[in-house]
Amino acid sequence: MTPAARNVLIGALGMLLLLAATGLLIVLTGGYNIAATDRHNPIVGWALTTTMRNHVQGAADDLTPPGAITPAMIAAGAGEYKAMCAHCHGGIGASRAEWAKTMRPLPPALAHAAQRWSIEEVHWLVKHGVKMSGMPAFGPTHDDATIWNIAAFVKAMPDMDAGDYAALTAAGQRDGGGHSHAPGAPAHAD
Ligand code: HEC
Repeated sequence: MTPAARNVLIGALGMLLLLAATGLLIVLTGGYNIAATDRHNPIVGWALTTTMRNHVQGAADDLTPPGAITPAMIAAGAGEYKAMCAHCHGGIGASRAEWAKTMRPLPPALAHAAQRWSIEEVHWLVKHGVKMSGMPAFGPTHDDATIWNIAAFVKAMPDMDAGDYAALTAAGQRDGGGHSHAPGAPAHAD
């Protein structure tokens, strides 16, 4: 190895050590503001969002919906959406719960977000949730068929107006969305 190459190698190793030491110092001193009232440092925000997007895209690759998406699936997903998602994500013409407005990350309005994700990706996100974000995993409490119904409903949201949304979610709740929510009972204790 030439002396020049050796200097480059030593410099690179020194830089890596410095980065590792800085990282460890931040962890041990609590040196990154974790308050939800504080915006992420742009680099941390970019790293988290990009990791999430790339992970979901890769993980959802092997999934296939159980056949054609039918209006019955969308109708069945509507009641589930109203009961388990709308307080965080809002609906069409229906805003999030007051407390959800100060979450970080803010649960995105799904009518727009659904255009960025395929139905397989929505299924994966609902089934597995997203660590360190507040997006819960519904897989442990809901079967795949129910989650495909919810994903079908989410993917149909961009084409709905407030009237369609209200009608579908009201009907879904009356029928129990194919998965009953008895009044007053904890949702999905099954
Ligand atoms: C307690 C609040 C909460 C509930 C309840 C919730 N979510 Fe989320 N959801 C989030 C948060 C926060 C994110 C943002 C995650 C991120 O960006 O890292 C998210 C992200 C998502 C995404 C990805 C959107 C994007 O572009 O980032 C989808 C799709 C989604 N949720 C669907 C659902 C569905 C469907 C339900 C109901 C079955 C649901 N969520 C229930 C909080 C919630």
